Amino acid sequence: MTDKYAVIGNPVAHSRSPLIHAEFARQTGQDISYTAVLAPREGMRAAVLEFRDAGGRGMNVTLPFKHEAWDLVTAHKGYALVAGAVNTLEFRGPEMIGHNTDGIGLVCDITDNLRCSIRGRRVLLMGAGGASYGVVEPLLREQPEELIVANRTPEKAVALVAHFEKFRALAPRGVAARAYASLRGERFDLLINATSAGLSDEMPPLAEGIFAAGALAYDMVYGKTTPFLEFARARGAQTADGTGMLVEQAAESFFIWRGVRPDTAPIIALLRRAGDEPTQPDRPR
Ligand code: ATR
Repeated sequence: MTDKYAVIGNPVAHSRSPLIHAEFARQTGQDISYTAVLAPREGMRAAVLEFRDAGGRGMNVTLPFKHEAWDLVTAHKGYALVAGAVNTLEFRGPEMIGHNTDGIGLVCDITDNLRCSIRGRRVLLMGAGGASYGVVEPLLREQPEELIVANRTPEKAVALVAHFEKFRALAPRGVAARAYASLRGERFDLLINATSAGLSDEMPPLAEGIFAAGALAYDMVYGKTTPFLEFARARGAQTADGTGMLVEQAAESFFIWRGVRPDTAPIIALLRRAGDEPTQPDRPR
């Protein structure tokens, strides 16, 4: 019998997850179906239970339901607990287990695919919304020298840093919230844009000279080259969009459900080619 999975969101029609998981299934010979479920804003819980009760085995959760999914599950696994958001549901009898694979996806793309070590590096994380909350713990587990969180509204960066206080010691020089203007004159090895700025062709206000030699500039937005990536490229930094993160978080969900690790490289290449079916720009939230 074909095992059923789906992504639930609102909107969800643009989601690349059905394509990615179909590719994973074909590649690994797993007998699964993977569809998209559009749930009403107030109807996420009912839609999840309906999918499960009809024999569903698991779901991915996307905008705007990741926090609600965190409340819905019977247990949190891994990074989901502290992140406060769930992007992967695993149905096991009466249990509903919530995982968050977004941060693993980011770290895996940076360290494995892009071959950029995070350990011992100075890291700048831009943004203090849900996308940032999802990646802070896995980033800190890589033991960067220091993690600086910058946000346009500085209080939100302060709140984020306080939320992850118990992981502060994982970075030898700690974790700090800063305003963009205070970063003038500083250099970072890894700069991660977790803001939504790129979707509206904007970028955080970064000063000249922010990229250390050999720096990697990473934008979680996929499907377009954002102003941040253009800025970084023009200043000699290595750049990457969020396509790899998107595919790697999906691979981690697939592994949780099926116990098999798909090869992500061909699918990342396929999405980057985008060919006759252009990818709508988006980002994990
Ligand atoms: P998310 O989509 O990550 O869940 P969000 O709450 O919509 O979260 O936050 C989007 C993030 O992008 C915020 O950190 C936001 O900064 P503010 O908190 O100051 O609003 C950031 N952001 C959006 N547009 C931006 C821009 N043009 N420059 C800098 N930061 C921007």
